[in-house]
Amino acid sequence: MGSSRSHWEDVYAAKAETAVSWYQRHPVRSLQMIVAAAPDRAAPVIDIGGGASTLVDDLLAEGFGDVTVLDVAEAALAKSKARLGSAKSKVSWIVADITQWKAPRHYQVWHDRAVFHFLTDTARQDAYIAALEDATRPGATVIMATFALDGPEKCSGLPVQRYSPQTLAARLGRSFQLIDEARETHMTPGGSEQHFSYAVLRR
Ligand SMILES: C[S@@+](CC[C@H](N)C(=O)[O-])C[C@H]1O[C@@H](n2cnc3c(N)ncnc32)[C@H](O)[C@@H]1O
Repeated sequence: MGSSRSHWEDVYAAKAETAVSWYQRHPVRSLQMIVAAAPDRAAPVIDIGGGASTLVDDLLAEGFGDVTVLDVAEAALAKSKARLGSAKSKVSWIVADITQWKAPRHYQVWHDRAVFHFLTDTARQDAYIAALEDATRPGATVIMATFALDGPEKCSGLPVQRYSPQTLAARLGRSFQLIDEARETHMTPGGSEQHFSYAVLRR
C-alpha cells in the first residue's frame, strides 16, 4: 500500500530530510504557483502530504497567515516543526491519510507535490478526489505535481501513476479546469533526474 503509515514513518525515521529523493532546498515552482493563485496572504492554504518540505517555511516567509500541512507520517511533520522552532505555532498540523480524511473547513489553495501519484488504484484515487472536493469550493485553486509520463515508475520504492497535466485534469474530473501547467526536471540529492508535471486547476 503506497500510503501505509508505517512505510512513511520508517522512511522519515531512517533518512535525514535533506537526503530523501524528493528533497528541494526551496520548492520554488510550488511557491510561485501558490503566490499567483493567492495574492491575499490571508487565503487558507493546505499542503497535502507536505512531509518535511520547506514549503511551509517559504509560505510563512511570504506572509501567508493560514497554512495547514497534512501528512500521514507524524515523523515527517516533527522534522518540519523542529526546523521551524517557535514559528511552528503559526501552522496547523494534521496527521492523516488523505484518502480517509474529511476536511473540517474549506481551503483556497490545495497543494500536493508527489502524493496523489502514489494512489495507483481507482478506489483510493476516488477517495482523494472526494476529500479534495469536500475541502474546496468553486474558485479554489488546486496545484498538483506528479511524476510526468516520462518520469520514474517508482518513488520511495513504491509504484506510482504518472500523469501529464492533461491526464491529471481528466482524472480529477469536470469540477476542475486546467489553467496552467509546467514541466520540471528535479535533481535528487543522489544526482538523478526526475521529470515532474505540474498542473494548476481552478475549481
Ligand atoms: C514523495 S513525498 C513528498 C513530500 C513533499 N510533498 C515534498 O514535495 O517534499 C510523499 C509524502 O506524502 C506522504 N503521504 C503518502 N501517502 C499519503 C497519504 N495517503 N496521505 C497523506 N500523506 C501521504 C508521505 O508521508 C510523504 O511525506
